Amino acid sequence: MKTALSIACACIAVYMLMPFNAIGAGGPKPEPLPKAKTIAELAERYDSSRCVDCHEEAHDEWSDSLHAKSILGTPRTAPTIITAIEKGLKLFPYSGVKEDSDITVESLMMCMKCHLPQLDEATDDVAREIVATIRSWQQAYKDSDMDKAEELEETIASLNIGCMVCHNKMAIIHKYADGYPQPDTVYGSQDGDHEDEDYSKMAVAPALGEAIFCGQCHGQGPNFELDHPSQCATAYGSYLFAYVAHGGNESCQECHMHKSELGHNMQSYQDETMVEMALDVNVEGRSLFWRKDKASGVIPIGVIDVEIYNKTGHGIPDG
Ligand code: HEC
Ligand code: HEC
Ligand code: HEC
Ligand code: HEC
Ligand code: HEC
Repeated sequence: MKTALSIACACIAVYMLMPFNAIGAGGPKPEPLPKAKTIAELAERYDSSRCVDCHEEAHDEWSDSLHAKSILGTPRTAPTIITAIEKGLKLFPYSGVKEDSDITVESLMMCMKCHLPQLDEATDDVAREIVATIRSWQQAYKDSDMDKAEELEETIASLNIGCMVCHNKMAIIHKYADGYPQPDTVYGSQDGDHEDEDYSKMAVAPALGEAIFCGQCHGQGPNFELDHPSQCATAYGSYLFAYVAHGGNESCQECHMHKSELGHNMQSYQDETMVEMALDVNVEGRSLFWRKDKASGVIPIGVIDVEIYNKTGHGIPDG
């Protein structure tokens, strides 16, 4: 009995140590590329327009999504980054940031971890250039210089969650088992050669179609790994603890990409289809006469029963 148990334990231990990368095609951790020194250089490294020739549909859908302008936002995000600097970083006694010139990649990561994860491939000068560009954009609006505002808005939006953020940088989650994303590979659902010049291979990212993939940025709560935890999106936490825990079994991709038929244009309340998928609202009303008291006598009253059922995979609104 004892022997059987120890053999079982040994088997489990061996199983846990076994490489799982039979299906994934990550590899050893690659040497990091030299840090990008300007916004233009970082934007070029992650430029999605080079994929449009062969993936027109994915590209056009993606360009309508907020992922395509992930630090500009609706455009509420860019100004909120400035607020986080003015009302947060510069007021915190131990942040090391008193002036814009003190800003570093690390200090912006409390937002960029999710809004622009590839900022970790850039120098602190790029972090400062981003802040300066957002400020100039705000100033151009104040000066009613619309041409300049538009141009700067494009620069801000050139940094985004593009194809290669999802299909390379963030594609593989369990890197010890499945390996690290390789610089010449696009990750999707198939293995083989890929026609692109720079990304000449394609390989399987085991979890790209799972909710955990989106969970990397869609938040569980405070980001405890940061020196100063921030909290913004929490949809993934809500998905795990309120939806899956209560029997929900659809993934983010099933609702946001497939059922909605929006594909890469992942949307929320700004899209009619998503609004229709969001809630069941059932309203029942009846009117009657009610004898209230001697002074008021008989008065008409209405009883309205409103039932709202959330059909999404998480609390709404989020953030
Ligand atoms: C855990 C990842 C994460 C972090 C960290 C994070 N955000 Fe977000 N943020 C998101 C996601 C995902 C959304 C969109 C979905 C949502 O609202 O749930 C979002 C939405 C927003 C929005 C509304 C978007 C719009 O276009 O109107 C603003 C503004 C925003 N974030 C600002 C910030 C700022 C400023 C910081 C840093 C202080 C920050 N976020 C940190 C993930 C994050
Ligand atoms: C926010 C993350 C994200 C971004 C950004 C993104 N993709 Fe995808 N892509 C996915 C996911 C997730 C799937 C798999 C969906 C599923 O499970 O069916 C996918 C699937 C695909 C596929 C397989 C077939 C299909 O169309 O579903 C192609 C090709 C593709 N993406 C190309 C692109 C290109 C090109 C871009 C840039 C214009 C891009 N993707 C941007 C997440 C992303
Ligand atoms: C010269 C044409 C060409 C270019 C440029 C190109 N691709 Fe592809 N890509 C293909 C073809 C063809 C396939 C295989 C499609 C199939 O079998 O469904 C493919 C497959 C993929 C897949 C795997 C799809 C799946 O089913 O999982 C992804 C992800 C992808 N490409 C992303 C990109 C990205 C990101 C770029 C830009 C950096 C890009 N591609 C540029 C032609 C191209
Ligand atoms: C690299 C980080 C990242 C990944 C991976 C990612 N997202 Fe996002 N997503 C964001 C950020 C950041 C925003 C908000 C951008 C803004 O407006 O400032 C956003 C916005 C959205 C929105 C729009 C929210 C709104 O308020 O309208 C939806 C829907 C969405 N994402 C769904 C998904 C799904 C589904 C996946 C997985 C297939 C996914 N995202 C993967 C970071 C990410
Ligand atoms: C059962 C379907 C379903 C699943 C599963 C689902 N969503 Fe949603 N989600 C929706 C619908 C529908 C909306 C639109 C809600 C609205 O109109 O306000 C939405 C809204 C959102 C929003 C915008 C929230 C806001 O502030 O309004 C984000 C971000 C989002 N989803 C991300 C995700 C992510 C990430 C996952 C997986 C962890 C996921 N969703 C799983 C259906 C789903």
